[in-house]
Amino acid sequence: MIPRVVAIAGGKGGVGKSLVAANVGIFLATLGKRVILVDAAFGAANLHIFAGVPRPSRTLSEALVEGGPGLAELAVPTYVPGVKLIGGVYDPPWVAEPAPAQVERIVEQIRALPADWVVVDLGPGLAAASLELFLAADVQVIVAVPDPTSIELMHRFTKAVFLRSLERRGLAHLAGTESRPSRESRPLRAPGHPGHLEGGAASALEVYLRAVHDQIAEIGALRDAILGFSPHLVINSARSKSDMELGRAVTSAARRRLGTPFRYLGHLEYDEAVWASTRRRRPLLIEHPETRIAKCFERVARGLLAVRPPTPEGDVLPPDSHYELLEVSPTASFEDIRRANRRIRDIYGAADFFCLTAMPDISGRVEGFGLVYLEAAAGGLPSVATAIGGVPDAVVADETGLLVSPSAEAIKDAIRRQLRRQSSNGVPKHWDGQAATRMIEVLMRVETWRQVEAQDSVTA
Ligand SMILES: Nc1ncnc2c1ncn2[C@@H]1O[C@H](COP(=O)(O)OP(=O)(O)O)[C@@H](O)[C@H]1O
Ligand SMILES: [Mg+2]
Repeated sequence: MIPRVVAIAGGKGGVGKSLVAANVGIFLATLGKRVILVDAAFGAANLHIFAGVPRPSRTLSEALVEGGPGLAELAVPTYVPGVKLIGGVYDPPWVAEPAPAQVERIVEQIRALPADWVVVDLGPGLAAASLELFLAADVQVIVAVPDPTSIELMHRFTKAVFLRSLERRGLAHLAGTESRPSRESRPLRAPGHPGHLEGGAASALEVYLRAVHDQIAEIGALRDAILGFSPHLVINSARSKSDMELGRAVTSAARRRLGTPFRYLGHLEYDEAVWASTRRRRPLLIEHPETRIAKCFERVARGLLAVRPPTPEGDVLPPDSHYELLEVSPTASFEDIRRANRRIRDIYGAADFFCLTAMPDISGRVEGFGLVYLEAAAGGLPSVATAIGGVPDAVVADETGLLVSPSAEAIKDAIRRQLRRQSSNGVPKHWDGQAATRMIEVLMRVETWRQVEAQDSVTA
């Protein structure tokens, strides 16, 4: 029987990947499944602690050596019946960067392990081995914590894995990431383009919009690649109600910003029981089955059991339903929706004015109307907007905002005028003359229109 392989990644260290890997595995074992935990955090192995095996006698690196033992031989029993561990501790330093052929061998051998489920714990960062093992899994899980660094690194990881998946499908040229660009290929970005806001790599959405614009022949294959990569998100260390609701918002935002159709598995609460059990080097679910985090693990593991492979149906372009925009689930209660509305009001309420300078995007779409201007106006916030598409229907010129032509100069002037207006009406919340000049400088450093477009919106 071929095992089902779950890979746990996160892009960032310390977010709880190993905690999740160990306890998801333990939970599956309590349902009678045979489980093997694999510590593939090359060079940063710590899964053995969460699995309750302080000193595993064998290590994964043995299998990396030419002619070494098979992976299955390296699995040691844990105290939990049905759970074995292939540990990674005591590895030699060279293990931190395994060669592609070594990784390939590990991937093959994982598929042949004698288990119902294999849970592979990955290291932080974008190492080729992590991307490869992640892509090779049947169920891909990304762990993030409610913290901007974690979310940003999770986006980076997602984009890197997506690009790797394009390479594997022979579609790397669509992202302009081949190592040796051919004569015909050109970079994804026009010259002078700012590149990407989150660390260099193109997102699925960017690659798709470019491909639609260029009317490339492989659009169908690209669509399959995008919709076929659908990782699962777990939010760990949730401390507040809003942390617990964050997962829904993060999946929705990742869908809209990156184009990657994430699926949300659930959250895990922050719990002192975690360190109490790690200190004793005992598995959390065995030491503290009565805790709230244990219940969370049950929900997440049951979600994993129900995972089906992604279907290449649906749209790459994100839906604009009100639920998506409010970043709540379609089953949200009235109270959830009220809270989401309050969240949006608070964001507008913290600003002096709203600035969204719409431009036609590279697929030729224009702003149809601009609901966000109405949201801003409803919050009493004037807008600085460009007269394009349906925007003039949403912004009443000189009444609910300033409507200018889509040029950098005109926008600069409009921002100046808006700030002057507000200063004469009283002191703006955040702006003095210097701050205004700084903001305009930043805007002017924006070299091309695409940069303004990529910034989505600049709320002052
Ligand atoms: N939900 C949680 N509540 C309390 N502590 C946690 C929780 N999740 C992780 N930790 C702690 O955070 C640290 C990092 O967890 P770990 O699983 O090693 O992260 P990673 O594998 O992503 O590097 C550990 O000390 C762990 O005990
Ligand atoms: Mg770890």
